[in-house]
Amino acid sequence: MYEIVAKEILNKDVDLMVIKAPLVARNAKPGHFIILRVDDEGERIPLTITEIDGDLVSIIYQKLGYTTRLLGTYNVGDSLSDFVGPLGKAAHIRDIKNVLGIAGGVGAAPLLPQLKEYARRGVKVTLVIGARSKDHLILLDKYKEFCDEILIATDDGSLGTKGFVTDILTELYKTRKFDHTIAIGPLIMMKFVVILNKKHGLKTDVSLNPVMIDGTGMCGNCRVTIGDKTFFACVDGPDFPGEEVNFDELLARQNYYHEEEHVCNLRLVKK
Ligand SMILES: Cc1cc2nc3c(=O)[nH]c(=O)nc-3n(C[C@H](O)[C@H](O)[C@H](O)COP(=O)(O)OP(=O)(O)OC[C@H]3O[C@@H](n4cnc5c(N)ncnc54)[C@H](O)[C@@H]3O)c2cc1C
Ligand code: FES
Repeated sequence: MYEIVAKEILNKDVDLMVIKAPLVARNAKPGHFIILRVDDEGERIPLTITEIDGDLVSIIYQKLGYTTRLLGTYNVGDSLSDFVGPLGKAAHIRDIKNVLGIAGGVGAAPLLPQLKEYARRGVKVTLVIGARSKDHLILLDKYKEFCDEILIATDDGSLGTKGFVTDILTELYKTRKFDHTIAIGPLIMMKFVVILNKKHGLKTDVSLNPVMIDGTGMCGNCRVTIGDKTFFACVDGPDFPGEEVNFDELLARQNYYHEEEHVCNLRLVKK
């Protein structure tokens, strides 16, 4: 069992949880994720490792469906049945002078450890972060600790530029050059960031989050098309070169399990 030692509500949809998991903590690097089961009957869900502190592993989750909402009902002192990791390939941290991170919504969570590692290596870090509104922005305080510059976009204009991250990028690229970019957020955001970046000759790493089951390359559920090849996001990713990702295929598959998810949600309502 894996004890929850701290919990923080970041906004009405998103929580941060700190779990005691020494073996995971010992080997985790930026870009790695875990797969957890809340209880013995639960489904397995992947979540990115956002921070490590000694034996403690932080995760941040958006309460979207059955399992993340069930997780949200757990509190400090409760324990999770399974907490397996670190899984996936660690992010490729490049030897560069400056990096641009682009986060959308809860994508700010998986982006955090990667940008923090760049900052630790002395790389200049610029962050463009977007969310539906001021209240949906997460982790700004943590980013302020190490980012050289932060630009904010909200859909409703309640903080920063009114619009999408791509609106900020369009302006930014008129005067600024970056060695590399990393974009993590909703698929549709990553797709359009990659299209824009390509026009400016910029490469973009993206983090893909197809539905995963075993997380070890056995079930094939997390397959993604990169260039003309098929990869498994759980063992070959989750980070991939954005220019080669078939976003349309991923977008089409996003609602594949919609009916099953609906049935699960009904179970939670009945509990
Ligand atoms: C490698 C990896 C890392 C991830 N890291 C994080 C993280 O740090 N924080 C976080 O909040 N989420 C993260 N996710 C997404 C998270 O795993 C899903 O949101 C979760 O599995 C949903 O489970 P559920 O039972 O609560 O919702 P479900 O009932 O299964 O789904 C509810 C809704 O969420 C959508 N959904 C389901 N699975 C995913 C998915 N994999 N990606 C995007 N949308 C999904 C469904 O289309 C549906 O609309 C990550 C996914 C992967 C593959
Ligand atoms: S989750 Fe089964 S192969 Fe990746």
